[in-house]
Amino acid sequence: MFKKTILLSVASLMVLLISACGDNGETQSEATPVAVQTAKLETPSEVVTERSLGVIDAAKDYHSLSNPDQVRVTHIALDLTVDFDQKVMRGTAAIDYKKINSTAQILILDTNDLTINKVTSGGQELSFKLQSGDSFLGSALEITLPESDARLVIDYATSPQASGVQWLTPVQTAGGKQPFLFTQAQATHARSFIPLQDSPQVRVTYEAVIRTPKELLAVMSASNDPDTKRDGVYEFNMPQAVPSYLIALAVGDLEFKAMGERTGVYAEPSVLEAAAAEFEDTESMLISTEKAYGPYSWDRYDLLILPPSFPFGGMENPRLSFITPTVIAGDKSLVSLIAHELAHSWSGNAVTNATWRDLWLNEGFTTYLTYRIMENVYGTDRFKMEAVLGYQDLEQDLNTLDAGDQILAIDLRGRDPDDVFSNIPYEKGALFLREIEHKIGRDNFDVFLRNYFEKFAFQSITTDQFLEHLKGTLLVDHADKLSIKRINQWVFEAGIPEAAPKPSSDAFSIVDVARTNWLAGKLSADAIETEKWTVHQWLYFLNNMPEAMSDANMTALDAAFDLTNSKNNEIAHSWLLMSVVNWYEPALPRLHEYLTSIGRNKLVKPLYRELSKTAEGKALGRKAFEQAKPGYHPLTVKANEGFMK
Ligand code: BES
Ligand code: ZN
Repeated sequence: MFKKTILLSVASLMVLLISACGDNGETQSEATPVAVQTAKLETPSEVVTERSLGVIDAAKDYHSLSNPDQVRVTHIALDLTVDFDQKVMRGTAAIDYKKINSTAQILILDTNDLTINKVTSGGQELSFKLQSGDSFLGSALEITLPESDARLVIDYATSPQASGVQWLTPVQTAGGKQPFLFTQAQATHARSFIPLQDSPQVRVTYEAVIRTPKELLAVMSASNDPDTKRDGVYEFNMPQAVPSYLIALAVGDLEFKAMGERTGVYAEPSVLEAAAAEFEDTESMLISTEKAYGPYSWDRYDLLILPPSFPFGGMENPRLSFITPTVIAGDKSLVSLIAHELAHSWSGNAVTNATWRDLWLNEGFTTYLTYRIMENVYGTDRFKMEAVLGYQDLEQDLNTLDAGDQILAIDLRGRDPDDVFSNIPYEKGALFLREIEHKIGRDNFDVFLRNYFEKFAFQSITTDQFLEHLKGTLLVDHADKLSIKRINQWVFEAGIPEAAPKPSSDAFSIVDVARTNWLAGKLSADAIETEKWTVHQWLYFLNNMPEAMSDANMTALDAAFDLTNSKNNEIAHSWLLMSVVNWYEPALPRLHEYLTSIGRNKLVKPLYRELSKTAEGKALGRKAFEQAKPGYHPLTVKANEGFMK
């Protein structure tokens, strides 16, 4: 996609800088004059692509139609009724705002598939215009502001097809008796259930009254009272300003169980005990992260276990991470997901990416922190295994993605961020930070991170702002060990720089030996000593098999280890993928069952992609997809329907 990278001329760089940031460190698109000498940036943050989109404005959010540079929303008060029969939410969003430009008369909000009934202020109707829609950006809602600058109240309803809401019927839940609803706002889906400025550089406080059938419980990414009366009217308050993608709601037959002083879990009753046992180390993770990176800012840290259709592994909704049930393995083998979502409380929820181009600031820092938390809580051996597996995921993406999509500060203009999800911001971002750690020493880097989280807390920052910060800190203090040239290479170029850190694990060496000997016919499958193998060793064993496997070898592995029936969803995924590639028929009924019972995109998408490559695969895939589709989340449908056409 990117054929050439051209450095910006100094003149255009200055224009860009001038619009990049204000003097308080907050991102602002509004032109704020800054001293010209700061334009001596060496950061080639702009590339000219063959798509001729021109220079990237680093501070501009290309994924919002709203106008926070003119008028900025500061607080949202929701009063919504959840109607499971119609699959809609109806009610009001009261909006407080401040004028950045004192002469501004129009507030522009993002919406997608919303019906806007009326907009009032102090009881007076205001005129508004809902522009026609765009495929993923939605429709701009332009409201003519009242002279008084008073609070606006928008009367609206969501659509049953809202991209950020999933409505589940009782049979799609664990309990089977009550319906369930959950929202997933990241990256651009908050606008499908709230009219707001749907940009990560706009932070709002919020409050909500959520009205539900009275046997159900509502929870939000806000203050949740575990002892609240179950009466169908639930009140929430989020006093800390958060970006829109962190506003979240779930409603269902939920119960709560405490895990520690500040940590607990919400889940359907039949899942609650298993979840609380699986994630019992959450409190230790929290304490360990605070010790290294400073106090936890969000009061409680609870988990919400979603039904299996949840399209992600986890989502870091503040105070209440949303978690897939597919990681409840019975042996804590997949709990790094919890470390990850918890780590976002620092990297992401406190310090937030200003635009989706800067996602790596959220996910790369969080992935780095995840490894550190796992090392602290579970030891170095486990961390090393997980780091190797993460590195291999990265290598796979580097082998398949276009050069442009291998860049940390990615150009997403004109593209739906959902379509560009990869390991690059995660694992390449983490590796970049690991290199800095290795070069300057762990203690120094921890001090840097702690200060970074403190300095930028509750702000949304761009990649350029981060690099400016590096230039004023580590690049001065460790000028002998770090160079801006190398850092720019990490951030603005494809691939991994030469001589980057490469994780390794002794625990995997014995697995390599076993695999090699078995493949060479020197060892039969049942003679491999696997009794003490961890889930990670199994994943490494399977993921590094040759692409083409004989039927005899697939059969031998399955006979020795019953992989087709593995209860671990990650092991089952690796095995089923091998089974599709090699068309190992005994595993195909299990594949159908897997695809129709799990909606987590990371687990199902590679299977559909592989199935789409042959006629027989496509037939099997289509059957599963059609059966599963009514229960899949809109994002999972969107990500996979192309393969099954
Ligand atoms: N915030 C992400 C999920 C996300 C990213 C949603 C971008 C929409 C757009 C979450 O923290 C995450 O990274 N989840 C991963 C967890 C994994 C890397 C441990 C997932 O769901 O697989
Ligand atoms: Zn994440």
